[in-house]
Amino acid sequence: MTATLVTGIGELVTNDPAHDGPLGLVHDAALVATDGRVSWVGRSQDAPDADRRVDLEGRAVVPGFVDSHSHLVFAGDRSAEFAARMTGEPYDGGGIAVSVEATRAASDDELRALLARRVAEMRAQGTTTIEIKSGYGLDVTHEERALRLARELTDETTFLGAHVVPPEARDDRAAYVDLVVGEMLTACAPHARWIDVFCEPHSAHAFTEEESRRVLRAGLDAGLLARVHGNQLGPGPGVRLAVELGAASVDHCTYLSDDDVDALCGSDTVATLLPGVEFSTRSPYPDARRLLDAGVTVALASDCNPGTCYSSSIPLAIALAVREMGMTPAEALQAATLGSARSLRRDDVGHLRVGARADLTVLDAPSYLHIPYRVGVPLARTLDL
Ligand code: NIG
Ligand code: FE
Repeated sequence: MTATLVTGIGELVTNDPAHDGPLGLVHDAALVATDGRVSWVGRSQDAPDADRRVDLEGRAVVPGFVDSHSHLVFAGDRSAEFAARMTGEPYDGGGIAVSVEATRAASDDELRALLARRVAEMRAQGTTTIEIKSGYGLDVTHEERALRLARELTDETTFLGAHVVPPEARDDRAAYVDLVVGEMLTACAPHARWIDVFCEPHSAHAFTEEESRRVLRAGLDAGLLARVHGNQLGPGPGVRLAVELGAASVDHCTYLSDDDVDALCGSDTVATLLPGVEFSTRSPYPDARRLLDAGVTVALASDCNPGTCYSSSIPLAIALAVREMGMTPAEALQAATLGSARSLRRDDVGHLRVGARADLTVLDAPSYLHIPYRVGVPLARTLDL
């Protein structure tokens, strides 16, 4: 058993209501990590002895960011598509086919190296839990490969064979859905915890309500848990479908009706907001205030992907949520930690109560307020204990 005392924490965010305010703040704090778990939290002056000691000299510590939505298994990039959008071209999901072609052409080792670099990039910015989706293979071999490679890096892997209908299947959508719920699901389920679908009537490439229901039900029957891409490009059925099927999360939620908010309200489905997407597609931001005021659990994630948001920065998502979506800095930080942990149905991450994983993110700053306040400055890093 090795115990490490982390001391000199100017401000500790625990997300534990036993401490101060909604973020469970402790000032002049210390924390002991024993074999990867938090074993003691309190004031520095009361700290017990430990085998090792790390002094953070007044820096703030927050729970490691939980990035509950990313698409990291891809080759190539779509910077030209981004540039076109900045001059007014709308996003419709058609560009996903470009990433599918590049990803299929890449070798296992090339993809493995790309993935490792992206995960390292996330960790370097304070993210400690990462969900990774497939969705740029879109045939049995390449979807299975994407999930197998992602599983080498995280347990939070998501089968997204129903990302879009690939170009070769455009003339027979029904046959493609049959493939996804049949042979592809069988090959992918052993490497996945989650199933997801891009349910979007405003994209000709994505899936209708009925197709999405079929995909999600098949995934649930195969023992996977559900999450949904919904209400991204316009109002639609995604949110209500997610609630109907008991999905852990519905992601994007950019366009919501009153019925959608009511449905989320009485459910266990988390609304995951991805403001980097609105930034990188020049779209209106979702109304986080409306969801929070209604009592919905809100999460924030990066959606890092080559199309709608090639940023892996959770501090950026927090800053955008505060500046553009009416969230307070405390609400935004909690959404990117506890909220995203809930969206992954995890109770061992997203907070720093005794028993949690000792996933600590240190800020080169005295308070968590500096995350949105010092936007664009790389303050956050994970602490290896
Ligand atoms: O979450 N909306 C669907 N999927 C991704 C974008 C994928 C892409 O354009 O490559 C998203 O925004
Ligand atoms: Fe996504």
